[in-house]
Order: sequence, then structure tokens, then C-alpha cells
Amino acid sequence: MAVPDPWWTSTVIYQVYPRSFADSDGDGVGDLQGVIDHLDHLVNLGVGTVWLSPFFASPQEDYGYDITDFCDVSPEYGTIDTVRELIEAAHRRGLKVMFDLVLNHTSDQHPWFRQSRSSRSNPRADWYIWRDGRGRGGRRPPNNWRSALEVRSAWQYCPDRQQWYLATFLPFQPDLNYRHPEVKAAMFDAARFWLEMGVDGFRLDIFGSVLKDPQFRDNPFRPRVDGTQTRLWQRPHTENTADTVAFARELRAVVDEFDGDRVLVGEVFGTPDVLRSYLGQPDHPGLHLVFLFDFLAFRYQADFFRSRIEAYEREFPAPMLPTYVLENHDRSRLLDRVGGDLAKARTLAVLLCTLRGVPTIYQGQEIGSANTPIALRDARDPIARSFFGWVPEFIAQRLPERLNRDEVRTPMQWSGGPGGGFTTPGTVPWLPMNHDHRQVNVADQTDDPGSMLELYRRLLHLRTGRASLHRGSLTLVPLDPAAPDVLVYQRQVAGETTLVAVNLVDRPQAVMVPDEAEVLMASQGPVTVAGGRLRLPATSGAVLAVVPPE
Ligand code: NOJ
Repeated sequence: MAVPDPWWTSTVIYQVYPRSFADSDGDGVGDLQGVIDHLDHLVNLGVGTVWLSPFFASPQEDYGYDITDFCDVSPEYGTIDTVRELIEAAHRRGLKVMFDLVLNHTSDQHPWFRQSRSSRSNPRADWYIWRDGRGRGGRRPPNNWRSALEVRSAWQYCPDRQQWYLATFLPFQPDLNYRHPEVKAAMFDAARFWLEMGVDGFRLDIFGSVLKDPQFRDNPFRPRVDGTQTRLWQRPHTENTADTVAFARELRAVVDEFDGDRVLVGEVFGTPDVLRSYLGQPDHPGLHLVFLFDFLAFRYQADFFRSRIEAYEREFPAPMLPTYVLENHDRSRLLDRVGGDLAKARTLAVLLCTLRGVPTIYQGQEIGSANTPIALRDARDPIARSFFGWVPEFIAQRLPERLNRDEVRTPMQWSGGPGGGFTTPGTVPWLPMNHDHRQVNVADQTDDPGSMLELYRRLLHLRTGRASLHRGSLTLVPLDPAAPDVLVYQRQVAGETTLVAVNLVDRPQAVMVPDEAEVLMASQGPVTVAGGRLRLPATSGAVLAVVPPE
């Protein structure tokens, strides 16, 4: 008997940013009970997995990505019991649950770091990456490694130890030292703690940075633009090292101690070769999936999407699966990338939900949420605060990318009333509600056949209902020279073929399709098929069944 494919091969991931999803107790901050209360929204939407950004104990300087206890919950989000309840409530509804595992660093207020920084000889002295400085009195950083934002050294001086510690992300997020066996054991145990509770997997925060060069060699200064990344320094000694790739396999062995196909999804950046290396080999597997971030910085053109899909199909052939992302809690909303053009956002929804692999949807994407302009001066986001004062506001607002991540983290818009259904009327939410919540919200879009929400819902239910869409192969149909702006691909399993056609220009287009094609749904009407010609309205996408003749 054939073994069924693991659940995650045909899932759709929905990212919840708990602080901004739903506030059940009226303190202006989203919480885990709020997530439980809205699980039915996810079921109705048709996603299969909910990934929660961190809700662990934290001083919230980076809103949860700075952790002080990996096995506890920040009180504003709930308790361990609420987590248990959330997992159970999700499972009862057939949803899988993924947590965010932040392996690379802790908060500088973590008891481990407090102890580590106190002397050079305490039992946790080597739990973090400490080095003597260079130059007279060791007052220069140990080497040239830059922090993730590149504007400053990754090293922070600690007067108590008269040494430097490494902080790849922000200064208050010291990097753990995975060359210390106790650190690895402690973090693997933290993962086991949640796996035992029943979590179905983890999204792995900046996983590519976990192990650095043990010889601490300088990184080369070589400016380069690579997909979504612009870098002055290349990072052979701090990112995607062979040791980090090997670590992926060790972590995989930990999740494989548990039944039920627990899944690891890496936030890693690099060339397709590098990304693929994290997946390991069939006899020595690594991560299950890695996010592919190219779509976060798309050019709204057929050739952009065609070339990326072609490349990913080549680089990640079955049984590997691409993991497409159009939005997340760090990057601009896609609606703003297309100048607020809803038809374009709808067209991209068709694309995302019909590609081969695992699509990821960020909360609010399903209703067409827009960025909420928030000045650097008012930012809560530590990255934005670090830019405040030296990047003028008018420049910050004109950049294609958001310097202030608050702008994409404002509360989920459940309804048009006061509090937007996110919090109790009269409560000031931790970040301002986007004013457009009066028009753009879940309540108004529910059952409105023309809404973004209904479009996502129909697409995702179609994906679940059609095997070719959730587990079929993908073949790009050769470009029709008469319609170069239309992207056409076919999804196929034995006995079922689905055709997807996406028109990326604002003029109606026609392409040749098999005679037996029947329209299943479209982002915009009217779509017609006659005499083997599919006519698509301007800026639209359509999904068709190719029905074999009787
Ligand atoms: C990547 C996360 O997506 C981001 O939100 C966070 O600030 C950094 N990692 C640091 O953990």
C-alpha cells in the first residue's frame, strides 16, 4: 500500500503575529485566547497550518524575537495552559500549528546572558560568543563582522568582562554559542518541550546564522544585490556555513524523535544551491522546507514571475517543494507594492494559491490589508528606532521597503467599528489601527462575492479540493508570443489537469488553451473560453479544469 504524503506537503501556512491578531482581554495587545477565538476564521479561509510568531517570555524589545525563557509564555499573551488549549483547539479543527523557534539569539535579559556577561569564569561564560577585542586595550571589535543591518559591527563591548559579545541582529540580542554542547542540548530540549505538547513544527528564525566560523575570519567586503538582499559584505564566515547546514540535520533528528511528521521551515537566505543544501539528502534529511523570498520584492511583470517559477521548478524539483511568500511581518504589504491596485493584488492571490509547493499567507493579506504609515519618530519597532535621526522621514516614506516594520504589524481588521474588532471599543491598541479598517475588514468582506477574502477563500478551497492543485506537478506553458504578459501553467496528477492563466497587464488578453478547458474561477470577470481561446480581462487570473473528452 502506498504511504500517503506527509501533511505538510499539501498545506497552506497562515502566519499569525499574535500581538496584532486579536485582543481577547481588552488590554490593547493581541493574545493567544484571541487566536483561539478566531481559529474558525482560518478554517473558513481554507488554510491548513497556523504559524505563530513568538509569544514566549520576553521584554518585547523586538516584540518576541528577544526571548528570556524559551519554555514560558509572556504574560500578556496567556499561559502555558493557553498554549496547550490553542494546540488542542487547532487540532480539533484539523489545523496544524507551527511555532517560531528563535535559535540564533536570546534577549540580553535572559538569565543565561546575565550570568554569562557577569565574568569570564562563570558556568555559562561560554554560552554566548565572547572574544577579546583588537588594538590597544582590546577596544576595537574582534573582527569585521557586521550586524544584519550592516550599518554597524555585530560586536558589542561589555565592560564587566572587558570583552565583546556577538549580536548578529540587534545589540540586545546576543548570539548563543552552539559550539558549546550544553547550549545545543538546552535549545534542543526547548524544542522538545513544545513538540511534546503537540506542536506540529517550527519556523526557524534567521536559521542561516546559527554557527559561525570557529576561526573568526573577516568577511570580504564585496557589495552585491542578490534577489531580496542588498549587501556590502558577503558573509561566508557568518551565514550558511557548512556547520549550520550540518546543524539542520541534527535539529531534524530531534523533531524526528516525535511521531506525526513534525515540520521544520527555515528562514534562510542565499542562492538556490545554498537553500537546497539545508534540505539535506533522503538518507540524511535536514529541514523540510525553506522559505523562498524572491516574491517579497517582485516586479509586477509576467517575465519576473515566469523566470522565478522556472528557476524554482528547476532548483527544487519534486519531491522538494518551493515555499512562496508574498508578505510577512517584516516586509511591505503587497498591496502597497502594486500601488494600491486591488486587481493586481487579486491576480497575485491567484498565482500564490495555485503554484506548486507551500504558499504562506500573512494575517491581513486575505483581506487586502495595506501598510499603515507610521513615522520613524513614533516607531515601536527597534529597527525603525535605530534609523530614526539619521534617515529623514520623507526618504523613509519613499523607500520601496518599510524601514518601520510597525507599518505592516498594525492590528488585524476584523470589523469596521471602533476597535476594529481587534480590541474592545475605547481601548488604544498597541499600534494604531489602519484608518481603512472601516472599509477593509473581515466582517464586511465575508460573503461578499467580490471581496478579497472571498477570492482567497474560493482559491484555497479549490486548492484543497483539487489534487492537481495541492500535489500535482507544475509545467509552464511556453510563452505565447502574441500574449507575452500572460503567464500560463498546468498543474497535473493522474486523471486531473488544472490550467492557470494570469494576465499581468491592464489590457484584456487572449491565449490558446485546450478545447476542453472549463473555467473554475477567476479573480475578475468575464472570462470566456471559445474555440480553444481563453479571453481574460485586464489584470486578472483564472483557474480552469481541463476535462478529458468522454
Ligand atoms: C527575523 C524575524 O522575522 C524578525 O522579525 C526578527 O526581528 C529577527 N529575525 C530577529 O529575530
